[in-house]
Amino acid sequence: MKLAILISGRGSNMDAILTAIRQRQMPQAQPVLVLSNLPEALGLTIAREKFGLHTEVLASNDLKGWEYDKNVMTLLQKYEISPTNGLICLAGFMRLLSPQFVSLFRNRIINIHPSLLPSFPGLHAQRQALEYGAKISGCTVHFVDKGLDTGPIIIQKSTPVLQSDTEESLSDRILRDEHLVYPEAIKLITEDRVKISGRMVLIDGGQ
Ligand code: GRF
Repeated sequence: MKLAILISGRGSNMDAILTAIRQRQMPQAQPVLVLSNLPEALGLTIAREKFGLHTEVLASNDLKGWEYDKNVMTLLQKYEISPTNGLICLAGFMRLLSPQFVSLFRNRIINIHPSLLPSFPGLHAQRQALEYGAKISGCTVHFVDKGLDTGPIIIQKSTPVLQSDTEESLSDRILRDEHLVYPEAIKLITEDRVKISGRMVLIDGGQ
């Protein structure tokens, strides 16, 4: 399965995914492309210099929805990544994908979010959890549907919220778990052990 990883920033989840692949934890995953909407994204350098991967930048340039996403499609085609052989992994990609793109890559786009969805979707999920006074938060890997952080959940991992937590300390602890669950979810999908039934994601060998 050909992986395209879409980022906008430091790319630590991307790094965790590519490290797991390098360690041969998921032989069926073939990383092909890292794409950013921001040229200054640190993850681009990591992808090229640490992992020798192709990187591309598609600047947002005020393009909205499908106007932008059709350029993503064109790039994916250039790398021969299709809805049948590909998996699009959003890893801190700060754009919402259009319904057209999501339909084309139906059940072939996944995302990681730093909360236990459906709690605290959208931006600043860790700050939202703190401000709400939640005692437990965590992270979620989910399929992407047309909503914001609403797609079927593949894996979640909980993280306690401590009284002493700041947004930064909580984010750091959640991030450590993100780096475990995102590669795990990709491994399951590339091994064809994941089925979607309505909102439920059923994992072959799961409980
Ligand atoms: C992570 O917290 C992820 O959950 C969220 O954006 C952040 C990206 O961080 N979607 P990184 O670029 O992977 O380090």
